[in-house]
Amino acid sequence: MIQRIAELRDEARAAIVAATTTGELEELRVRYLGRKAELPNVLRGIAQLPPEQRGPTGKAANQARQALEAQIAQRGEQLAGDELEDRLRDDAVDVTLPGSPAQQVGGLHLLTSTRREIEDVFLGLGFKIAEGPEVETVYYNFDALNHAPTHPARGLMDTFYVSDEVLLRTHTSPMQIRAMQAEPPPLYVIVPGRVYRRDSDATHTPQFHQIEGLAVDEDITLSDLKGTLLAFARAIFGPDREVRLRPHFFPFTEPSVEVDVSCFNCKHGTLRDGSRCPVCKGTQWLEILGSGMVDPNVFAHVAEHGYDPERVQGFAFGLGIERIAMLKHAVPDLRLFYDNDVRFLEQFA
Ligand code: PHE
Repeated sequence: MIQRIAELRDEARAAIVAATTTGELEELRVRYLGRKAELPNVLRGIAQLPPEQRGPTGKAANQARQALEAQIAQRGEQLAGDELEDRLRDDAVDVTLPGSPAQQVGGLHLLTSTRREIEDVFLGLGFKIAEGPEVETVYYNFDALNHAPTHPARGLMDTFYVSDEVLLRTHTSPMQIRAMQAEPPPLYVIVPGRVYRRDSDATHTPQFHQIEGLAVDEDITLSDLKGTLLAFARAIFGPDREVRLRPHFFPFTEPSVEVDVSCFNCKHGTLRDGSRCPVCKGTQWLEILGSGMVDPNVFAHVAEHGYDPERVQGFAFGLGIERIAMLKHAVPDLRLFYDNDVRFLEQFA
């Protein structure tokens, strides 16, 4: 029995020396000194031994147990110390290291930044911003805007109808009516938003963005329109720009004009090397929007809201955000805005 005690003690000693973590050490304590371990059981079984063996066996077992307990305690302290040091080293923060590189946060889409740029110009001129429904009624989109019942835009080929009376708005102009219903004159408002048409090619997508402008007051004339658009053109395309008005037709303005801005890319239609300017195609002018003086027939629809055509006049304009962005940044194909190719978008972010 004493022989077996010595064997157990030596086996345990070797194992304790070899232990590399406090966890392992705890397992060894259970294995050699725990309730079910062999050595403590020897001590518990002493009474069954012949009397002359009880003394020496008990002594040997006790000594072995105490020696192992002491060894475990000592090794435990050592290992705990090592582990603490490891942890301190691993957790150390080197405050002199450079910080992590800034996260890429992306940027605004060119259409968003262009819209905001345009909005800023008109906010600066005293206009406020309103928004309206993209799903509109025929009344607001066409009837109240003086479109004859036979107007081609009303055709199914031109327009996305939800039902006979409801459609996706083909322009932001219905908001002229809604804005006037909401507030009496004087009114200075711009309306950014999505519009929908059954068109699809390099310069048309079925959905695109417009900004509507409407100014109604007493004594508003065409020259107020021209001055406002001149300020806009200079803010967006450069301080030397000029604008010109060309006669045009819209059902809801009279007179109606198309507005051109002088080309910002060339002098007299040619580049320095004598070649034709690709931006204005040699014409020296860029068409930027449609506009005109609000037709009295339109005011008739909102007369009960304070818009007496005998007393107030107004001008309205509608511009395409895509068109402005394409001109300003020489974007060749409108569809690039919607392909979501980051290599394209990043150039403007
Ligand atoms: N709504 C017209 C269009 O989409 C543009 C326009 C707006 C013309 C306001 C005149 C006045 O073509």
